[in-house]
Amino acid sequence: MTLQDKINNIKSQFADAVKGLSLTKKEVSDIKNQFLGRKGSVAQLFNEMKNLPPEDRSQAGKELNILKSELSTKIDNLLHAAADDSTSSLESSIDPTLPGDFIPVGSIHPIEKTIQEIKNIFGAIGFNSVYGPEIDDDYHNFEALNIPHYHPARDMQDTFYITDDVVLRTHTSNTQIHVMEEQQPPLRVIVPGRVYRNEAISVRSYCLFHQIEGLYVSKNVTFAEMKGTLEYFVKSFFGQNVKTRFRPSYFPFTEPSAEVDVSCIFCKGSGCKTCKQTGWLEILGCGMVDPDVFLKVGYDSEKWSGYAFGLGIERMTMLKYGIDDIRLFFNGDVRFLRQFR
Ligand code: PHE
Repeated sequence: MTLQDKINNIKSQFADAVKGLSLTKKEVSDIKNQFLGRKGSVAQLFNEMKNLPPEDRSQAGKELNILKSELSTKIDNLLHAAADDSTSSLESSIDPTLPGDFIPVGSIHPIEKTIQEIKNIFGAIGFNSVYGPEIDDDYHNFEALNIPHYHPARDMQDTFYITDDVVLRTHTSNTQIHVMEEQQPPLRVIVPGRVYRNEAISVRSYCLFHQIEGLYVSKNVTFAEMKGTLEYFVKSFFGQNVKTRFRPSYFPFTEPSAEVDVSCIFCKGSGCKTCKQTGWLEILGCGMVDPDVFLKVGYDSEKWSGYAFGLGIERMTMLKYGIDDIRLFFNGDVRFLRQFR
């Protein structure tokens, strides 16, 4: 093989070694060693010069020097490109003068906001928050609350039955029973959570909604205490100028029972469409815990007395923010939700 053949060999080996790759610095310097290192293939050819006839040596030297400088220029270029890759290409792709990306900020759902607010209002006067099951048996949702089988509230149209004996709870009152089964008085709890009713969906009603139940059991609890507590709550939630009104009512699990109205938030009591010209809006049900309920959970009703109340969170939120369609809480439209940031 002539010297020229050997030089051409090295050139094509080199071309193969660097072909089509974007090489790292380390890879380039390995290639440099392989070809231009002290024991590299170019050095070997220089070594072989001593085997040539003396008159050919100077020409061979020239040719090898050209090969050597060709390769070393190419390797320098590769090293430079590799350096660009690893350190400065990221920098050069950032344009700090461009406007930033828009990252949408989420917001707390208005229902959760109201729950937090009501928890704080009752938390300040010693009520703990507890939670109960949304899927429950007939006993806790109805029977123990003095709602017997023939009661209209158990009508198939209102209750989602899972089996004959298991329901989606229709109110948070089921948790009154769970709490009293597990704890001895005195106790003071509120119970936020979802409830379900098989009702036609409209601007006013949805198949699921949220309630907060309240339960206070102690010695010598009076109706007046309940009135004072609920009035404190209404004023904290809607504002000091809002009036309350207690109307006699009926619930199977409280006796006596009442419904609480607030003076209309919108017309301030003078009469409008929302309050149907009455000047009042109904917001919750309440009453003194019925002795029959105490009997079911094994409390001595001679010794203990208490009150309970339940309110709808969607309704409270609609009144507070002037929302006219309950379905807005459930369809996840961010244009609606964004307003509660
Ligand atoms: N559970 C009743 C309802 O859903 C509300 C209520 C709770 C009434 C506690 C009295 C006492 O309508």
